[in-house]
Amino acid sequence: MRVSTINLLLLAAILLAPGCNGRKASSVGSDHSVEARVERLLSRMTLAEKIGQMNQVSAGGDVAGYAEALRNGQIGSILNEVDPVKINEFQRICMEESRLGIPLLVARDVIHGFHTVFPIPLGLAATFDPQLVEEGARVAAVEATSQGVRWTFSPMLDIARDPRWGRIAEGSGEDTWLDSRMAEAMVYGYQGRTADSTSMSACIKHFVGYGAAEGGRDYNSTFISERQLRNIYLPPFEAAVKAGAHTLMTSFNDNDGVPSTGNAFILKDVLRKEWGFDGLVVTDWNSMGEMVSHGFGTDRKDVAAKAVAAGVDMDMMTFGFISHLEELVHSGAVKESAINDAVRNILRIKFLLGLFEHPYVDVEASRAVQYAPGHLDAARRTAEESAILLKNDGLLPLDGNSLRRILVTGPLADAPHDQLGTWAFDGEKSHTVTPLAALRERFGARVDYVPGLTYSRQTRERFDDVVAAARKADVVLAFVGEEAILSGEAHCLSDLNLVGSQSELLEALKATGKPVAAVVMAGRPLTIGRDLDNCDALLYSFHPGTMGGPALANLLLGDAVPSGKTPVTFPATVGQVPMYYNHNMTGRPYRNEKLMQDIELEAGQTSLGNTSYYLDSGASPLFPFGYGLSYTTFEYSDQKLDKDVYSPKDTITVSFTLANTGKYDATEVVQVYVRDLVGSVTRPVKELKGFDRITLAAGARRTVQMSIPVRELAFWGLDGRKKVEPGDFQLWVAPDSASGTPLSFKVR
Ligand code: BGC
Repeated sequence: MRVSTINLLLLAAILLAPGCNGRKASSVGSDHSVEARVERLLSRMTLAEKIGQMNQVSAGGDVAGYAEALRNGQIGSILNEVDPVKINEFQRICMEESRLGIPLLVARDVIHGFHTVFPIPLGLAATFDPQLVEEGARVAAVEATSQGVRWTFSPMLDIARDPRWGRIAEGSGEDTWLDSRMAEAMVYGYQGRTADSTSMSACIKHFVGYGAAEGGRDYNSTFISERQLRNIYLPPFEAAVKAGAHTLMTSFNDNDGVPSTGNAFILKDVLRKEWGFDGLVVTDWNSMGEMVSHGFGTDRKDVAAKAVAAGVDMDMMTFGFISHLEELVHSGAVKESAINDAVRNILRIKFLLGLFEHPYVDVEASRAVQYAPGHLDAARRTAEESAILLKNDGLLPLDGNSLRRILVTGPLADAPHDQLGTWAFDGEKSHTVTPLAALRERFGARVDYVPGLTYSRQTRERFDDVVAAARKADVVLAFVGEEAILSGEAHCLSDLNLVGSQSELLEALKATGKPVAAVVMAGRPLTIGRDLDNCDALLYSFHPGTMGGPALANLLLGDAVPSGKTPVTFPATVGQVPMYYNHNMTGRPYRNEKLMQDIELEAGQTSLGNTSYYLDSGASPLFPFGYGLSYTTFEYSDQKLDKDVYSPKDTITVSFTLANTGKYDATEVVQVYVRDLVGSVTRPVKELKGFDRITLAAGARRTVQMSIPVRELAFWGLDGRKKVEPGDFQLWVAPDSASGTPLSFKVR
């Protein structure tokens, strides 16, 4: 094999080769020729070879260490190897030296970009732009597949309503509908609209409910009712399955006492039978083994049997299948037919990806693909669209020409690793452009850089150096937030204020009287109420990735206009969480009662209103879901529905006029929310059912129409069935989840 000599023309030929060509990604397993090949191969496999396919191991660069196991057909998939030379060698051993020549499925956590890193998924969701998110996932796939990675453990579809949970960074936030649209976009992006050698199988994870960890503490138990599962947590997975997702990962958590890796209800009844999924189910890292820690099985052998029975196809890093399945089959505890089904699901994906025909990559060609200019451009555009303007007292955009001295400060101003965010294994510091670098590139010596704090957790009592520099500056740009390490897996927090002395830094800067623009880079919504008072403008950027610097500089200087919206509610205090916009109505809803600090309590007073709120922080968030300002202003008017009464088969058309009443050409994310007033069970006060990005020149206005199929109003009611319940509804077209005047309609 001389893969390094394959030239670009040959690569193009590979893209068009049989087995890779034109097959729609959204039809896992419906191709008869693939099924026939799966059956033919399966019939030639020994039980040991079958079990080998069900074993996934972490490679860690150790070709020699795994050569024997690969030769013996004991490994079906590896993760954590991205060196194309080593991957080619792994594949060569499988193809040429193993009995059946079955290629490896090489996996990696390509979560928000491979080398070119995009904003973290929470930031991707803030764009409300599925098309751009698909483009980003495509970029990730092109870069990763060129090095031999054909399977990514993404997208993470866990609904997260608690920002203490560090993995809120990795998903699309709190909303089921937004999450579902992002899920589809990422599946299409990774796998490609048509399959070819750049198709990378998506893995939708973590199935299911993992984001509802009690107390926001990672790996903690969840207690989600079946109705909540079906109405809130499952739909993004179903949307991704419909979009053709090749694979799915079970989650670490136990829900109502059943660990997901041993949960036949979700893996068989829902996933396979109801949704018809015929892709591959992999466990999370050692989540099968952890069923022993959960106390759901006695030992690795016991949980291996339980996992197969529940519908798991591949074991990631427990080594439970490879060690015990053969014995379990021989003893009759596990049926060989269950093993056959699992192996079918694995081989199907290998055939779909064209791995049997083209297991190798062109090492030379793969280099040219990384950080391609178009990839960097897509990453910059995405970072621009994902930043959310939360405050602007007229400071932004800055007029670059009038600025003689700019103070850049804060621990995130020049933190190339940290702006990449969590799960950016392959992003490199050396290719990352920080805000400081981008601003220096534009303004040269006019930029003063005094970090104030070298890292976010640092505490300092005095900021004399920064304050002195601020006094000499025309504007202060303070980059604060949290480093990548403070969010992500197992990185949970019980306090959501800016850590260390960052708030004091902002306070000291504000006290100089100089205009201060704060940029928060973080992996979660932080409780920044105090900090808003200490700046004139605040831009929130969920860790923005490789091109975060140029994107933020463009936004600060008006070369790009903010359009991002909050994909999660920003709580005012950590004690308010979980706080999310689409909660059910209580029997005693909050009615603007006064907070205890604003009232003089009378002796013997026994009631402060008896409604559902916190005496010290009310019931309102700092910023609602869907919120974000622009440099321009938008006005909504003439909202109209095309009918008063709809049948369940109709589509609702809502029209309205959107006017850009400010001075900047800009994009508005318009949102449609619906409320079902009376149901067989209580319904959320509002639910997102549509959004669109509308771009308007300054002064322009446009009549916009949006369509909502009535079937989108269906939910799992008291009878345990999903349907639209006839009755009265309200619909809002609004700039966020807390504004607008509802229109009324009926469904009959
Ligand atoms: C995470 C998964 C990830 C896997 C493989 C686990 O710890 O929960 O999301 O895909 O590791 O790296």
